[in-house]
Amino acid sequence: MFEVDLEKIKKYDKPGPRYTSYPTAPHFTESFTRENYLDEIIKTNYGEGLPDLSLYFHLPFCDTLCYFCGCNMIITRNRDRVKDYIKYLKKEIDMVRTYILADRKVAQLHWGGGTPTHLKPDEINELASYIKESFQINDDSENGCEIDPRELTREHLEMLRKNGFNRISMGVQDFNEKVQKATNRIQPEDITRQAVQWVRELGFSSVNLDLMYGLPFQTLETFEVTLDKTIDISPDRIAVFNYAHVPWVKKHMALIHPEDLPTPEVKLQILKLTIEKLTKAGYVFIGMDHFAKPDDELAVALREKKLYRNFQGYSTHAGTDLYAMGITGISQLQNVYAQNYKTEKEYFDSINNEALPIARGYRLTDDDILRREVITNLMCNFELDFRQIEEKYKINFKEYFAWGLSNLPEMEKDELVSVKNNKIEVTPMGKLLIRNIAMNFDGYIEHKEDTAKYSRTV
Ligand SMILES: C[S@@+](CC[C@H](N)C(=O)[O-])C[C@H]1O[C@@H](n2cnc3c(N)ncnc32)[C@H](O)[C@@H]1O
Ligand code: SF4
Repeated sequence: MFEVDLEKIKKYDKPGPRYTSYPTAPHFTESFTRENYLDEIIKTNYGEGLPDLSLYFHLPFCDTLCYFCGCNMIITRNRDRVKDYIKYLKKEIDMVRTYILADRKVAQLHWGGGTPTHLKPDEINELASYIKESFQINDDSENGCEIDPRELTREHLEMLRKNGFNRISMGVQDFNEKVQKATNRIQPEDITRQAVQWVRELGFSSVNLDLMYGLPFQTLETFEVTLDKTIDISPDRIAVFNYAHVPWVKKHMALIHPEDLPTPEVKLQILKLTIEKLTKAGYVFIGMDHFAKPDDELAVALREKKLYRNFQGYSTHAGTDLYAMGITGISQLQNVYAQNYKTEKEYFDSINNEALPIARGYRLTDDDILRREVITNLMCNFELDFRQIEEKYKINFKEYFAWGLSNLPEMEKDELVSVKNNKIEVTPMGKLLIRNIAMNFDGYIEHKEDTAKYSRTV
């Protein structure tokens, strides 16, 4: 358990990347084309010990709008629209499949959204069966799905389980009725408890609950009740996201009245309470917004320094080639990122033209690859060994990262890191500000990238 120092948090709270990739998505460009991407896919089929695959499927549909939502989602009750989307996803699977060597195995599968369980149980079966027929999924593959307890039936979960899903992540946000009403997300506590009970009865190996702080009418007292209820439900993992009110980016957020939002001071107190309470209840603070029970794979990977980060956040699968399908999906091969079109129209048109629906992407330079490794080490292992990087990349670490290292003495004074024997070690308090620490090794920030587009680091 550790004490959170609010003064330090205030000092370092500023916009910064979340580093689900390096470089971050705003650097992707249209000059990286689908032909560039195809060439790269084909290259990944050659060589010794090819990496396993991760597959991500984006299912954007939800039936009602949560006013705080920052996800890539589409509100609809039109079932034909969902059926059409599944039809195109299957076509995209066919296309992607043809380029990848048949014997490459899937180690990780994730359905995200939106709300994947907006699909009816028979639609879940149709898509999941198609994926299983198209790819070879390892017996021990980590197969996760995001669900919304409000529109869930036991049949949805049965169908996921029958198709090999073993992890569930569900949205809660806050148990308080006033908060739920102000955000248009009415989710009575017994619905959440029922969903967790079904998940357990059906033998899923892990369940995650998403909470959010910074929502209207939240106070330290109300959020403490939400935390107590969450601890009582005892999920394997808990994510606690920071709500950023940006109605100029997501117009529907204007439905939340700014005067109802907690002040930055209250938000920080809620964050402090959350970390102290969850760690006291036995959860390990993984990093960023994530907590896990000590025997959960994420906490084990953290201890064994095998944690990794990709577009879905922290993961235990390092080095896979990630293929993302559906609108907005971002794929990550060893040295390139590629993002699908964001609208259904562009996505469908591209597939109708037999073209992979790639809108933009990025090929990493040698400098990006080196910096990505440094940032990944810091974000995931919370330490960095200069010598190891020097040996692998044939650089002089202190010269190469002179700018970033010059920022560390202040962080050392503030007890966020300790720098000695050619090593950076991140302290528990530093883990909370890990994005700020990583930013010192970001070449784009070193060269004065405007960071206003990123969310705040706390
Ligand atoms: C795709 S949703 C989870 C599944 C389902 N759609 C649901 O809401 O129950 C992903 C999660 O992102 C988080 N989220 C959504 N909008 C957010 C925002 N503006 N800021 C931070 N987190 C957000 C919520 O905690 C939400 O549960
Ligand atoms: S939070 Fe989840 S359910 Fe609500 S609109 Fe966003 S994706 Fe849909």
